[in-house]
Amino acid sequence: MSQNFDSVLNENRVFKPVPATALGFNRWHIDSLEEYKALHAFSINDPAGFWGAEAARLSWFRKWDTVLEWTAPDARWFVGGKLNACYNCVDRHVQAGHGEQTAIVWEGEPVAPRTSHAVAGSKYASEPEIRRLTYRDLQTQTSRLASALKSLGVKKGDVVTIYMPMVPELAIAILACARIGAAHSVIFGGFAPTAISERAIDAESRIIITADGGYRRGDIVPLQKNVEDALALLTNHGHIINHVLVLQRTGHEPPSKRFSTGDTRGSTVMHWWHDAVAQASDACPCVEMDSEDMLFLLYTSGSTGKPKGILHTTGGYLAFVQMTARLAFNLMPDAGQLFWCSADIGWVTGHSYVLYGILMNRVPTLMYEGAPNFPQNDRFWDIIERHRVTQFYTAPTAIRTFMKWGDDLPAKHDMSSLKLLGTVGEPINPEAWIWYQQHIGKGRCPIVDTYWQTETGGHIATPLPGAIPTKPGSCTLPMLGVDAAVVNEQGEVIPANSGGLFVIRKPWPGMLRGIYGNRERFISNYWGRIKDPKTKEPYYFSADGARRDEDGYFWIMGRVDDVIKVSGHLLGTMEVESALVSHPGVAEAAVVGVPHDVKGFAICAFVSLKTHWLKAHSRNPDDSLRQELKEHVAKEVGALARPEHIRFAEALPKTRSGKIMRRLLRDVANGVEKITQDTTTLEDFSVVARLRNDDE
Ligand code: PRX
Repeated sequence: MSQNFDSVLNENRVFKPVPATALGFNRWHIDSLEEYKALHAFSINDPAGFWGAEAARLSWFRKWDTVLEWTAPDARWFVGGKLNACYNCVDRHVQAGHGEQTAIVWEGEPVAPRTSHAVAGSKYASEPEIRRLTYRDLQTQTSRLASALKSLGVKKGDVVTIYMPMVPELAIAILACARIGAAHSVIFGGFAPTAISERAIDAESRIIITADGGYRRGDIVPLQKNVEDALALLTNHGHIINHVLVLQRTGHEPPSKRFSTGDTRGSTVMHWWHDAVAQASDACPCVEMDSEDMLFLLYTSGSTGKPKGILHTTGGYLAFVQMTARLAFNLMPDAGQLFWCSADIGWVTGHSYVLYGILMNRVPTLMYEGAPNFPQNDRFWDIIERHRVTQFYTAPTAIRTFMKWGDDLPAKHDMSSLKLLGTVGEPINPEAWIWYQQHIGKGRCPIVDTYWQTETGGHIATPLPGAIPTKPGSCTLPMLGVDAAVVNEQGEVIPANSGGLFVIRKPWPGMLRGIYGNRERFISNYWGRIKDPKTKEPYYFSADGARRDEDGYFWIMGRVDDVIKVSGHLLGTMEVESALVSHPGVAEAAVVGVPHDVKGFAICAFVSLKTHWLKAHSRNPDDSLRQELKEHVAKEVGALARPEHIRFAEALPKTRSGKIMRRLLRDVANGVEKITQDTTTLEDFSVVARLRNDDE
């Protein structure tokens, strides 16, 4: 497998939990391995008892009748229960007298000259914009926006597309949807217009909430322009967006591009956010949602070209996420905590652990708008120092970047407020784990390496910080209530330390309920491959390879399907290939992942060109064409899909049945000298030799 995995195999350091008080926590929620093991056994043997108690921590308008109805692969959790996600994150805290507490601390990216409300201790000569929103602020603002959405015709069950920068209004938009029972479909601001249009069509969404722009690394991301480009694509597909609501964030558009509320773009009516909420009522009660009503869709890459709309429902997702957030991060209200997850809300990590999981636990959540290297490479450490962040959650790719930037940057900052560090998104190599622990956690903070997926809603395997000893590179043991295993293709548990497939054998409340509009793909992707060897009931298959060591610890080895994790973000090889083939000069393309020091994996694309196109345009397979193709992919899919390497080939190696031999290409891309696999089915063996000669 990857290079990361080789080093993981040799890893045998163990770090024991320390007493909560040694870190400044009041206590651990779970404080011994024995307690964890007893609770885990209980949660698996009596799921109704265990999950009933967890769900009781939420506020319900009507209590459920039955904890679980399960006919594989369909789960219904807390059947008959009625609740509202916004109520659980916001209103109930106001009702309980905590309305004046801080819910969100937000920091914008631009740094401006120092102002009188500058936060003491900044190492910069200038200060960013900071906003604090209380639960009451959130209640008022979500109510106003929810009223505005209703007046634009948004109803319970509709899907609202959200394409926004990391500003408080993004949280408000999400919660406002939940307030009125509309599902949100958030699209990461780094995606291109094609991605917006594809997702809006798939979700049958008729309204888009966006902003004029967003700040990123000192530049402005033209969000409104991207949406307008998407509108043109949508019109070509005969899909009408009725309304676009635009938050004014950057004010950068020249007068010729500006609009007034009520102006139209084709059949779409444009609205400024500030106009829409100005007239809107702040009395807009949270609607009663059925436990199994859709809460959101979130699109993720799959092994076919089309992204999958992962569908999460209300009761189970909330119950699971409030528990996993509380236990993995030891969240406690009124204990001086400030939680910071650096993920963008456009990804599931942001949904579950910037917003829902943290707000439900009544711990303030920090949102940062921009890049870690603006204006300088120590921006994150400066934020931790100034805001006194207590728990920090980021990705291995970010940690590897910080390592590269040097130990002196974190050393310049007082990060003594930190009590716990988390990581998510891809396997963390032990060197990065140790660096994180030493240089950010100063040898003091426990590291929680949380393994999960968009589909699982929340953490599936993670250390519980007071209970489970950690080993660098391992996500340790299963979350309470999660029956995870490493099995072979027959569904049999395999001996310790052998590589196998990561499965979940029983339903859990945060599990996806479907792929929007694609039942077949839902079954074949997740439930069609591995079964209980005795009962033949399907297991949930994560598409990750893993092993379990002699202590039962999981070591995730990475994806076994055709998706690549680039900087912690999933990309389907097909998505990138389709983008390449949409270039007029490209005949065929195949994409594979190659290990990369910072990104984890990078994209290597093998491309065969149309000779007549080359001739007609007097072009050559050279660096300028490589650059053009890289930019083309970035434009079609988004910057994170930009290939690292483009290798031109006269033809791509195929089996006799016409399948591109990806594993072989992976070997070529990785410089594996000897062809290790059976190549007898190769259609044209000489193709391989020629591929090897085209090093960039
Ligand atoms: O391969 C696993 C990897 O990320 C995949 C899920 O990606 P996504 O749905 O985008 O969600 C990312 C954030 C939850 C998994 O199938 N992955 C995620 N976390 C870890 C991980 N691999 C190893 N260790 C992790 N902690």
